[in-house]
Amino acid sequence: MKLLGVSGSFRSGSLHTRLLDEGARMLPDGVELVRLDYRDVPLYDAEAGHPDAVGALKQAIADADGLVIACPEYNHSIPGVLKNALDWASRPAFDSVLVDKPVALFSASPGVVGGVRAQAHLREVLHGVLARVYPARELSFGSARTLFEDDRLVDPKARERLERYLVGFAEWIGLAGR
Ligand code: FNR
Repeated sequence: MKLLGVSGSFRSGSLHTRLLDEGARMLPDGVELVRLDYRDVPLYDAEAGHPDAVGALKQAIADADGLVIACPEYNHSIPGVLKNALDWASRPAFDSVLVDKPVALFSASPGVVGGVRAQAHLREVLHGVLARVYPARELSFGSARTLFEDDRLVDPKARERLERYLVGFAEWIGLAGR
């Protein structure tokens, strides 16, 4: 089973990218989580044809059994880079690589709220593109900087929550596919 990790942050020290990489190390044998690099995806332009980076984005999504989106909260919503990629991937409308695609999502923030407002917006977007969102308790990490030491997720409770969520997602995809 192949999961595609999508970080909504391109920052080298991104909490979200780090959480995805930690999650990749927690998955059982037979399940891999590979992170998507979508920096080259241009701004959406309906008249731009089929840029190579968009083709690569769509192929990566099509090849994945599920997406894991790590979504920062920017001004109470989802980052533009992530929305832009989802907009490209969502075409042709209602017949795109996102239709019926299993998706898990989580957020983190240095603030106490943990990005849950962005998650609500992301769920709405995913609903719009007819993706299948993992029906589990929301996963968010407030005060997230305190959970890391030397770039590693060290907080035991946070590690447990992340592992439970991702393993549950992998099981859900497996069960749902039967
Ligand atoms: C933020 N941040 C933020 N945090 C939050 O809890 N609520 C918010 O509305 C916002 N708004 C916001 C806007 C913009 C433009 C930036 C750059 C940042 C803080 C944000 O959650 C924090 O920078 C995270 O660390 C971003 O995720 P990465 O880059 O660490 O993965």
